[in-house]
Amino acid sequence: MTDHIETQVPTNSSKPNRQAPYSGSPSEVLESATTLESSLVQDESPDFSIPAVEFRNVHFCFEDEDVLDGVSFTVMRGEIKIILSASGGGKSTILKLILGLLKPDEGEVLIEGEDITNYDESQLKPCRDKIGIVFQEGGLFDSLSVYDNVAYRPHEEGEAEEEIEKEVRLLLRFVDLEKEIDKLPNELSIGMQKRVSIARALVGNPSIVLFDEPTVALDPPTAATISELIIRLRDLENIASILVTHEMDTVKYITTAYAGITKKGEVIVKEEGDKFCLSNTKILMLRESRVIFSGTNEEFAQSEDPYIQKFISGTELELRGNRAKREKAKNKYSEEEYSQAKETE
Ligand SMILES: Nc1ncnc2c1ncn2[C@@H]1O[C@H](COP(=O)(O)OP(=O)(O)OP(=O)(O)O)[C@@H](O)[C@H]1O
Ligand SMILES: [Mg+2]
Repeated sequence: MTDHIETQVPTNSSKPNRQAPYSGSPSEVLESATTLESSLVQDESPDFSIPAVEFRNVHFCFEDEDVLDGVSFTVMRGEIKIILSASGGGKSTILKLILGLLKPDEGEVLIEGEDITNYDESQLKPCRDKIGIVFQEGGLFDSLSVYDNVAYRPHEEGEAEEEIEKEVRLLLRFVDLEKEIDKLPNELSIGMQKRVSIARALVGNPSIVLFDEPTVALDPPTAATISELIIRLRDLENIASILVTHEMDTVKYITTAYAGITKKGEVIVKEEGDKFCLSNTKILMLRESRVIFSGTNEEFAQSEDPYIQKFISGTELELRGNRAKREKAKNKYSEEEYSQAKETE
């Protein structure tokens, strides 16, 4: 039987959702990154008992084709909702409905308890300010530097440059890219570009972040780095995330690894593999416009639904391959670390 870890979601508290300090070595990909906790979590007293995002019986169709047929779910602060479906299953549509870019034909969409279903553009603005998005395609401006990409929204809003720079540097430190601040996107790897997109999504201290296929087309260690950033946002910053993906390797990692802070103040991400199943991270699976599964990854893996089994087994080979590659990458890192340590002895 798998243990379930409940990361506590405080109610009416301004304190970040800290994990107890863990012992153990820090994850290599996070060694030089910093935590945002004191800087990002600035809400005076957010009410953690209200869902950050709620869909109530949402129906939506494009040209008489049902895309969503009575979809309901909630995501709380400090939680991740992973949305799975086949291609064209309505995942990106859900994100557009959250942003108010599309309107449901029936049902309601609520952001932090506010029903935004019939909001006009000016009413939507303060709600959108609470939401960051990492687009499926990355969405960086090729001609703008990393700094200007991350600073895009505050520049548009005419904020003071000094304040913008402080925030941009903090966010780039979080994604471990401060050194690349003056580079153009095409001077960065795809994984680094994704991290810039994440930094940009975090501008303005959002309480909700939407990730549309953030690890697609990334090699396993880079995908793990992105997953770890998402885990840190969940466990250390209390962000509510919606993660659209079809990669079971990412699903497995995000549902079984958690972030904490060591006594020395280092951020670590611990992977517990099959031993744990995090209850703050749930899967929602869509098929033919309807929710066919809602629950933990453990329940998902044990589902007897043949479609779900096929979905899992269809990517299982890839999953095993990726894990092996990631382990190899970690070992390689350890070897390098080991030889460096040997040299300095
Ligand atoms: N602007 C549009 N006009 C008409 N149909 C659309 C439009 N955008 C999306 N659709 C249709 O809505 C359905 C859901 O699309 P959506 O982009 O939400 O799927 P998805 O699950 O994100 O797919 P993928 O995994 O390929 O990104 C698809 O059948 C798609 O063809
Ligand atoms: Mg999509």
